[in-house]
Amino acid sequence: MLGRGLTGIAGRPFVDLEPFIDLTALASLDDEICYALAQIPTDYTGGCHRSMGIMPEAFAKEPWADHGEVIRAMTDREFLVFASLSDAPHLLDPARRAELTFGEERAVPLSRRQMLHLEMKHGVYFPWKVYVELMPGGPWEKKSDPAGKRWTRDALVHLPRTVEFVRRLPFASVGSVKLLGLRANDHGTVHRDADPAVKTTVDPFITFCPGRKKRLFLWDDVEGTRTHIDARAFWFNDSDYHGVEADPWFRYSIRVDGAFAGGFLERALGSLNAGSAATSTRG
Ligand SMILES: [Fe+2]
Repeated sequence: MLGRGLTGIAGRPFVDLEPFIDLTALASLDDEICYALAQIPTDYTGGCHRSMGIMPEAFAKEPWADHGEVIRAMTDREFLVFASLSDAPHLLDPARRAELTFGEERAVPLSRRQMLHLEMKHGVYFPWKVYVELMPGGPWEKKSDPAGKRWTRDALVHLPRTVEFVRRLPFASVGSVKLLGLRANDHGTVHRDADPAVKTTVDPFITFCPGRKKRLFLWDDVEGTRTHIDARAFWFNDSDYHGVEADPWFRYSIRVDGAFAGGFLERALGSLNAGSAATSTRG
């Protein structure tokens, strides 16, 4: 059932892809991934959804500190300390700080050192504290485009089974593969990646969860309800508000963006619609 405040996909809140993808390898992938995460460099992401203006009002009132707001409010001295931890300090002219934007999808990326300092000195909350781009996707609007995209060395060396699994997913081409992990007790802030009134198409992607359940939910801002996605492989409309519930353990998922293989979507949606018709006939 699609709530009034969700756009969804083909009349449903999300698409459960479990019936269409062989997931028998997931337990083995989880072994490989958790072993790799203990060894490879990881990043933080998120932490600025409110200042990006992509949170619903009900959640934007939450008290967690947003790095966009924190950086804007820094004194000149605090800004100099912050700038000194950058990987690109030459870009951070304090006299022009009002023109600079930082972090996710912004002009100046945050360094790992800056993220840690924002967290520890300024109390910024970064929801995704284990973030790895296995195939860097570039700017958000280019994430489905395969041109110039490559697996990272860490992915090829430490995650060969995961790379192979992604290669077998029903994509004609892939433009981005990222691992998004949340540490125990952290939650993923509710946000949407586009405004459905402006962006009327749905980006093709598959998210899969090899490890413990990650309780992702869609937030219906009209009805004030949550639809939890209880599937280990799925696709949803990321122009709908979505977030991740807190749980007392580490959780992660891998999101693959690209172009679906010819006919995959038609077969999957056709099969789901046939299933719904059979269910509704039964009653
Ligand atoms: Fe998102």
